[in-house]
This record gives sequence, C-alpha cells and structure tokens, in this order.
Amino acid sequence: MAACLFLTGCGPSLPPSKPLSQLTPQESEGRQVFVSRCARCHYANSDSALHGPGLFGIYRRKYLRNGAPANDDRVTDIILHGRGMMPSLGDSMDDEQLQALLAYLHTL
Ligand code: HEC
Repeated sequence: MAACLFLTGCGPSLPPSKPLSQLTPQESEGRQVFVSRCARCHYANSDSALHGPGLFGIYRRKYLRNGAPANDDRVTDIILHGRGMMPSLGDSMDDEQLQALLAYLHTL
C-alpha cells in the first residue's frame, strides 16, 4: 500500500487496513483461510496484481474490477465458482471458513 501512494492508476488512496493485532477471532480464522487458499495469487495489503488483482480495500471500494458491486454476494460467487483465470475454491472450505474469510476480507 505504501508503494501505491507513489504510483498512478491506484485510484483514490485508502486508509490502511485494520491492524492484524485488532482482528476478532473470526477475522483471524479468515486470515488463515486467506493465507492458505488465496495468498499465492492475491496480495492482501496491496492493489498490485500477483496472479490475480490485489485485494487491499476490496470492500471499501464500490465496485470490483469487472464493475460488479463489491458485496458479499458477488465475492462469495467468485470464491465458490471462480472467474476467468481464478479457479473455483468452493470445495476447499466449509461454510464457517467461508464466512470467516469474508469477515477478514472486510478488514482489508
Ligand atoms: C490460482 C490463482 C488464484 C487463487 C488461488 C485465488 N484467486 Fe482470486 N483471482 C485470480 C484471478 C486470476 C482473478 C481475476 C479473474 C478475472 O477477472 O479474470 C481473481 C479475481 C478475484 C476477485 C475479483 C477481484 C476484483 O476486483 O474483480 C476476488 C474478490 C478474488 N479473486 C478473491 C479470491 C479469494 C478470496 C481467494 C481465496 C479463497 C482467491 N481469490 C484465490 C486468481 C486466484
């Protein structure tokens, strides 16, 4: 995110994500899910792309990159069914883990 401040094309800069030390137990569980299932393709703390777009501030922007509203329905759909080059990950987590993951994504 620091690097983003000096680059163009990042959109309006957002305040930092919620500090890890302040995550609730559910958000921390979601972070574990993120680290094991998502982090190889997505940065949590940057807008920069890895294999997929950076997810920093995902819910604090109004729209996802394809123009869909940034809400739980759309994000859940992407996680469960995949999109473009992103594989479907619905089989890799149960509903509790999915809810925790969404809670964590809201802290970014
Ligand atoms: C194998 C790499 C890979 C993994 C693993 C992966 N993704 Fe993705 N993801 C992508 C790619 C590539 C895209 C862009 C898809 C497109 O629009 O064509 C994407 C797009 C997204 C988007 C849409 C972002 C936007 O602004 O449009 C979200 C949200 C997302 N991924 C969340 C997740 C989450 C949460 C996980 C973990 C459960 C995850 N992804 C795991 C590759 C991955």
